[in-house]
Amino acid sequence: MVHLEWTAALEVGHPEIDADHRAMVSLLNRLHAASSRSDQAAVRIELATLEALTRDHFAREERLMLDIRYPFAARHQKEHVHLFDEIGAQIDDFNEGLLGAAAIAQFIRRWLMDHVETSDRQLCAALARCCQRSF
Ligand SMILES: [Fe+2]
Repeated sequence: MVHLEWTAALEVGHPEIDADHRAMVSLLNRLHAASSRSDQAAVRIELATLEALTRDHFAREERLMLDIRYPFAARHQKEHVHLFDEIGAQIDDFNEGLLGAAAIAQFIRRWLMDHVETSDRQLCAALARCCQRSF
């Protein structure tokens, strides 16, 4: 089951990052819905949106890391690069008929949950400490 409800438990406390994550969750749900009704045109649109949204989101986080000279930036960025490469490879596999959209949505969902709970939560705590306030 891929459908995911956004709840406060998923929030990391930074408005821009939370807004991006919320958009990604909603996109994953749309991707899953399009895949469930075998709507290939909608799946392609959602996959392209996913790639763009992920790129923008990672760039935003990486700018924030630079702003505060985040000491774990290199490691965090490495996770982003790996995920972005993986999304590209999975979309290629989808286009060649080797992988279903539901499997891609499942993979991203798992990755997002792990990443948000660990790396993004750690980054947001550092951002809050740095700015001496919560967002
Ligand atoms: Fe991140």
